Amino acid sequence: MDKNTYYITTPIYYPSDKLHIGHAYCTTVADALARYHRIKGEEVFFLTGSDEHGLKIQRKAAEKGVTPLQYVDEIIANFQLLWKELNISNNDFIRTSQERHHKVVQDTLTKIYEKGDIYKKNYEGLYCVPCESYWLERQLVDGKCPDCGRPVEKMQEESYFFEMSKYADWWMDFIDKNPDFIQPASRRNEMINFVKQGLEDLCITRTTFDWGIPVPFDQKHVVYVWFDALLNYLTGIKYGTDEAMFNKFWPASLHLVGKEIVRFHTIIWPIMLHAMGVEIPKKVYGHGWLVVDGDKMSKSKGNVIDPLALIDEFGADAIRYFLLREINLGSDGNFSRDALITRTNADLANDLGNLLHRTVSMIEKYHGGIVADMGASEPIDDELKALVASTVADFTKQMDNMEINAAIKSVWGLISRANKYIDETAPWILAKDETKADRLKTVMYNLAETLRNVAILVSPFITTASPKIYAQLGLEVPAQFLLKEAVWGGLANGTKVAKGEPLYPRIEIDKDGCTVIGGKKYVPQVAAPAPAPEPEKPAMEPIKPECTMADFEKLDLRVGKVVAAEKVKKSKKLLKLQVEIGDEVRTVVSGIAMHYTAEELVGRNVIVIANLAPATLFGVESRGMILAASDSQGKLVLADAPDMASGSRVK
Ligand code: MSP
Repeated sequence: MDKNTYYITTPIYYPSDKLHIGHAYCTTVADALARYHRIKGEEVFFLTGSDEHGLKIQRKAAEKGVTPLQYVDEIIANFQLLWKELNISNNDFIRTSQERHHKVVQDTLTKIYEKGDIYKKNYEGLYCVPCESYWLERQLVDGKCPDCGRPVEKMQEESYFFEMSKYADWWMDFIDKNPDFIQPASRRNEMINFVKQGLEDLCITRTTFDWGIPVPFDQKHVVYVWFDALLNYLTGIKYGTDEAMFNKFWPASLHLVGKEIVRFHTIIWPIMLHAMGVEIPKKVYGHGWLVVDGDKMSKSKGNVIDPLALIDEFGADAIRYFLLREINLGSDGNFSRDALITRTNADLANDLGNLLHRTVSMIEKYHGGIVADMGASEPIDDELKALVASTVADFTKQMDNMEINAAIKSVWGLISRANKYIDETAPWILAKDETKADRLKTVMYNLAETLRNVAILVSPFITTASPKIYAQLGLEVPAQFLLKEAVWGGLANGTKVAKGEPLYPRIEIDKDGCTVIGGKKYVPQVAAPAPAPEPEKPAMEPIKPECTMADFEKLDLRVGKVVAAEKVKKSKKLLKLQVEIGDEVRTVVSGIAMHYTAEELVGRNVIVIANLAPATLFGVESRGMILAASDSQGKLVLADAPDMASGSRVK
């Protein structure tokens, strides 16, 4: 049964930094779709939010000296401000740090664990911290993360694994039976090829940091961020707490995501749901990326565009319109300030703004503001009426297919036709001829009625325009515009229009290259000069899994004094040391020849593991090991205990 509901989600954004215009793009597209389904009369639930856990946030908070929650709170307040300013109509904002979400994640984990799909093992892998993902050596591109191109770190930890591999056949079969699940089709093929290469089990817990949701059956683990994050889509519609609400909106109609996270949403997510016995969402759409003046946005290039500053200058509608009109949803798209100004002036200020302004002004001038269709029709009117009907049909089809820019082009085709209709019917000439009085009234009615239809069609895209058009046409602004009212003849005779401010002021550029909008001057955001690259902070090796005091006490650490030293023949790295430990002198071979000369060491105290089993290196038997600190860049410094008698215990 068709539930007449529509559940749409955006990815939940990482609050590691402020959002840029690329993030705003994804949410704007989702908002346009949500609004479209509302005008179709569907009950829509639109969810967005923040993905707060993980090592990256924990490290950033530690650098600032605040708790992870304090760190994200401030950034999330900024997300919410952005969505408000951009007129985003989300029904809820989910935060993964919320209690309601912890419960869903923990319950889910327990359920899958009890089912037997989760097991524990030691894991060593290559981890990309920004993407919070493990990679296999063969998946790296030039030794770096294949998603973001940043370096990966070697991590070793005891982890729980979700046995995804056993669902590979189920997944292939599901994709086969649901060919529309992954959109666009090119992404579907990518995913099929990925799974064909072999589906690995998924490491779903971490012990190397604690900013995450504790694993209910093993508290020293926290849940892997992606396993945690994907479940937000269930938490948002009250999975496990409000059955009626959940059943109303699940399965989700659409998860809209960026192309680089399609894999998580189309492979891991359906398999998780299948393991839980929950229905699979209807569609995942992977949109393209927004670049700026042809270049990927990055802090180091200084080309990251702040959407809030843009909204302040140009208004939310101009930004929304540009993003939706200019970019073909599945492909990458370009943002440029010049193109934004050109589009806003041409389509919003000129085409739509002028159509409204000319129409309402003429109705006021010729008919005291009153609209009336006197039935004095001519063939050109039928053409306009037919175009309204075909535009509504095209728009509906295109929006149903998520061809947003094509739908906008259809509506602007109608707007252009209406402007041309003014030129062709020449109301100023009709006004001079009394015998044409009825014809003039009909012409004006046709224009106003076209605008009423246009107001409904543009409402998903430019949210402030539709109420203003309705108000200027003298119509009561409805709580919800409805597509079913986009049929010819809805405007009643006798309606009184009321001219208002121009819909969109023209953007002028003054001699200094500044924009002047509605009399206010804006200095363009100059791309900040690229800051000097931060010296790469050596990544710390992860802490090894916990050991007990009893484990530690097995080691006998002693202060030793180096009494003689020489290089081990044929080895670049090894020194052979004679180390006095109390009454005894023993041979210890150590890999420190690249850092210390033999002479430097004689007479110096070192710390020795005195009860290490002997090992033979380059033919020399070594009885013990000396301790040193080393960093990931390979620097090495011996641990020391100056002025302590040799043989002293280190504990
Ligand atoms: N937290 C994860 C998503 C978890 S969803 C269960 C994440 N967050 S993100 O903040 O890095 O990215 C969120 C979305 O923003 C992604 O869909 C990503 O594609 C999108 N964008 C980030 N930069 C973008 C552009 N320059 N252009 C378009 N969208 C881009 O991934």
